[in-house]
Amino acid sequence: MDTKNRVLELLEEGRGDYVSGQELARRLKVSRNAVWKAIDELRGDGFEISAVTRRGYCLSAESDRLTVPGIRPWLTPETRPGADLIRVYDCLESTNRTAKELAVAGAGHGTVVIAEKQTGGRGRYDHSFSSPAGGLYMSLILRPEKLPFENLAFVTTWAAVAVCEAVEEVTGKKPSVKWINDLLLDGKKICGILTEGVMDFESGAIGWIVLGIGVNVRSKPEDFAGELRPIVGSIDSEGKIPAARCRLAAGIINRILGEHIPTQKEILAAYRQRLGMLGKTVTVVRPGEEDFRATARDLNESGHLIVKKEDGSLMTLSSGEIHIQL
Ligand code: BTN
Repeated sequence: MDTKNRVLELLEEGRGDYVSGQELARRLKVSRNAVWKAIDELRGDGFEISAVTRRGYCLSAESDRLTVPGIRPWLTPETRPGADLIRVYDCLESTNRTAKELAVAGAGHGTVVIAEKQTGGRGRYDHSFSSPAGGLYMSLILRPEKLPFENLAFVTTWAAVAVCEAVEEVTGKKPSVKWINDLLLDGKKICGILTEGVMDFESGAIGWIVLGIGVNVRSKPEDFAGELRPIVGSIDSEGKIPAARCRLAAGIINRILGEHIPTQKEILAAYRQRLGMLGKTVTVVRPGEEDFRATARDLNESGHLIVKKEDGSLMTLSSGEIHIQL
């Protein structure tokens, strides 16, 4: 890591507190002039760093740029070595698209692609996913053989639980899950998850999984198109939580790329607990069929949703084929 990023990492660790140029130079074993140059470059990159005589430098508590040095201090000792595999971009068309290209080019398990905003974010059913600045858009490359799941569709269920826990850790607020891949806070969508497989052409099997996660963190209603405003929310729209996005990115990485992967049974129990829609009336939308009303009853052991139709019959819905409206 270059001096600029090492200075940033130390300022991130003590975010909101002053650290002297002498102390930074001592810890990094560089000259004070090199520290000064690094601070100047960081300011040029848009970081809010104040300087006070005899106290030193301080990274503003409100500064919320997504950077690897900003994410690294929040990683656990287990996931911190993998920080070298995190790439942060100012703007991408879609982090899933870049991650798929990287996977095809040989990027390894644990590669993470993050963007400050996306110009062509993708959602399920080929919908677009609005991705204004202030959100967290990330895609993780996972190799199926590193995962203990028999059914790879389970990755989305696991990710939903992981993101809920990470949001809770950072904000203290408890999101609920709307089957299968939306997270809601106060009834508004704050996160969408899109899991895609990348085929290995030689074996014909899924060689890679790209797990795409989009969270509205500091986005405000006016950042979204008019029709979306009533249905989208953000986890910290007032920007009150220091380093919210870096902490959230790290919280997700710690859960997905840490050594401890919960069992399918544990994940399902945590997912069911957060499923806000059980017992509620939902509208089931299936392509080529008439929409129908039903009551969400339970989840089965594969994470499929069991609904009771108005005629009293039970139906099991698998993720690929339906769309639910509350
Ligand atoms: C959905 O709500 O239908 C899923 C949305 C998934 C959005 C994320 S944002 C990061 C990653 N890149 C994309 O283009 N999509 C996913």
